[in-house]
Amino acid sequence: MATNNYMKMEFPALSVNVGLARITVASFASQLDFTVSEINEIKVAVSEAVTNAVIHAYREKVGNVMIQASLKNGKIEIIVKDEGSGIENIDAAKKAEYTTVEGRMGLGFVFMESFMDELTIQSVPEQGTIVRMVKTPVDAQIIDSNER
Ligand SMILES: Nc1ncnc2c1ncn2[C@@H]1O[C@H](COP(=O)(O)OP(=O)(O)OP(=O)(O)O)[C@@H](O)[C@H]1O
Ligand SMILES: [Mg+2]
Repeated sequence: MATNNYMKMEFPALSVNVGLARITVASFASQLDFTVSEINEIKVAVSEAVTNAVIHAYREKVGNVMIQASLKNGKIEIIVKDEGSGIENIDAAKKAEYTTVEGRMGLGFVFMESFMDELTIQSVPEQGTIVRMVKTPVDAQIIDSNER
């Protein structure tokens, strides 16, 4: 089992930083035995969470996005946090095709939920949003259940 490890990063909520976050977290995640397609799923989930912070969280100012990722007990936990506008109705926001921006598809949370094993959203209007996602390599899950 990989050693417990963590990383933190912080950057202004600018779209040029989405790729940086995606690659950094994917590189960190590759310390676990994820397949290429699982790493791609993590990349999409991180991009969606960070893009949401860039597009929705800060409308009048450019605030910061904070990411914490940790490897513990063979799982990766990824937390994407902003101190922006927050989400009024989290249950509605998670639904497919729900968007508050015309022209967007409203699929970001749907991708995060389907590509990660766990998704939890905490949000307070005018204070910000914390998105927490957890994923375990599928191979590790199989080994784990065989050993039980
Ligand atoms: N970090 C955030 N801060 C404030 N509001 C958010 C945040 N993330 C999501 N939201 C709200 O939740 C809604 C749904 O988010 P979701 O990512 O599912 O869809 P979208 O961003 O609107 O469209 P897409 O991701 O398909 O481009 C957004 O339209 C927005 O109103
Ligand atoms: Mg989105």
